[in-house]
Amino acid sequence: MPNIVVVGAQWGDEGKGKVVDVLAPHVDVVVRYQGGNNAGHTVVVGKEKFVLQTIPSGILHRGCRCVIGCGVVINPASLIDEMEALVQRGVSLDGNLYISKNAHLIMPYHPALDRAAESQAGKRRIGTTGKGVGPAYADKAARVGIRMADLLDEQLFRDKLEFNIRQKNRLLREIYDAEEFTVEAILGPYLRYAGWLAPYITDTALLLSRWMDGGASVMFEGAQGTLLDVDHGTYPFITSSSTTAGGACTGTGVPPTKIHGALGISKAYCTRVGGGPFLTEVSGDIADLLRTRGNEFGSVTGRPRRCGWVDAVGLRYAARINGLDAFAITKLDVLDACETVKICVGHRHRGEVFTEFPEEERIWHEAAPVYEELSGWQTSTHGMQDYAELPTKAREYLERLSEIVGVGIALVSTGPVRDDTIIVAGSALPRWFPSLGSAASP
Ligand code: GDP
Ligand code: IMO
Ligand code: MG
Repeated sequence: MPNIVVVGAQWGDEGKGKVVDVLAPHVDVVVRYQGGNNAGHTVVVGKEKFVLQTIPSGILHRGCRCVIGCGVVINPASLIDEMEALVQRGVSLDGNLYISKNAHLIMPYHPALDRAAESQAGKRRIGTTGKGVGPAYADKAARVGIRMADLLDEQLFRDKLEFNIRQKNRLLREIYDAEEFTVEAILGPYLRYAGWLAPYITDTALLLSRWMDGGASVMFEGAQGTLLDVDHGTYPFITSSSTTAGGACTGTGVPPTKIHGALGISKAYCTRVGGGPFLTEVSGDIADLLRTRGNEFGSVTGRPRRCGWVDAVGLRYAARINGLDAFAITKLDVLDACETVKICVGHRHRGEVFTEFPEEERIWHEAAPVYEELSGWQTSTHGMQDYAELPTKAREYLERLSEIVGVGIALVSTGPVRDDTIIVAGSALPRWFPSLGSAASP
């Protein structure tokens, strides 16, 4: 059975939660490989909405095992809240949630440092989610991080905490003029979290290896998106983890030879939350239309998302960096009201047009988009489940986008609920998961 990576191809919020939930019944395991509770993955089941932050989006399917890999940073209080909320809503976590011993903890001083750094960053402000994700990954790289396994060893946890508190308090006091922390205020609650989470903490790399040897199929769920990757994104306006397909290996301990394919998720347009370059960003009526119809407000922070047209140059870059076999295009229905729709086919900078995503920060900030404009379809696609049912102009838009990007489309999402989904016949998805069945070919 194939092991597939599902990865955001833009700046996050592409609809990864919905797509993973739709595909989860066709795999045995879903594993998150990076990010933390900066992520907000929405799954809508009938009239019920779930926003998953640290728990994989397969959790709503009984029988789908969910793993939080070593590349994830975990805020234990937030994770426990998420678990309790799911249990209250009738979701079972017994025997189907596993947490890596090697995943790093988000400690209370991390959000404090995150917010303090942002408040002093001026025009370099990133617009983080304030969840402490950057400082937690910084500690991991600096080799002073505290891991889930440390939580289970009280003496070791206390030693590491004392060391960190001394260091962080100096930073908070002397650089940021912010409030300090005490060991006692953290130790008690964290030992309680340890008691709560202990039954779930295990060697997940070994488990995954054994399951795959036994024939299980694993889906790797990325958080954030390609352009927020710490190496490949629009640095420094990025998150601090490896969001791209390569992160699926380092963030789980599964070797690249065990991964068979990658599915990129993109909206039919584009959004970004927080600061940083966004070449195809629009303002005025079109922005209002996309934000209103697409309900483009952050799932974690509630911030209005910046909106714009799809950038095919960025998507081709995402296809190259992630080795995408296919795209899932979400929120097609949001464009139903547009008279015309635009695809960015080049980045113009000082007379030169780039059709490969530039790597220079200056170009991202100074370039102008080169658009191809197509006529809109101005009829509802909401809830459509069959490719052939789509209006001709909507199909033309998807097919032109796919042609420019050079990668096929395997799934089209036409609404937030599970059934609002088209699986494209003959595409990578029914090839990977024959149980998905097929619809008419494009
Ligand atoms: P993620 O972080 O990539 O999982 O995406 P988010 O959950 O943050 O944001 C995607 C939003 O779009 C959520 O509110 C989804 O319920 C919603 N959504 C997903 N697919 C579709 C779609 O095809 N059409 C519409 N209208 N909404 C969708
Ligand atoms: P999902 O998984 C969209 C953005 C923040 C900010 C930058 C750094 O739901 O797609 P961080 O708190 O990570 O240090 O913030 O990254 N960001 C996201 N944007 N979706 C997300 O997650 C995001 N997670 C972080 O807005 O610009
Ligand atoms: Mg999100």
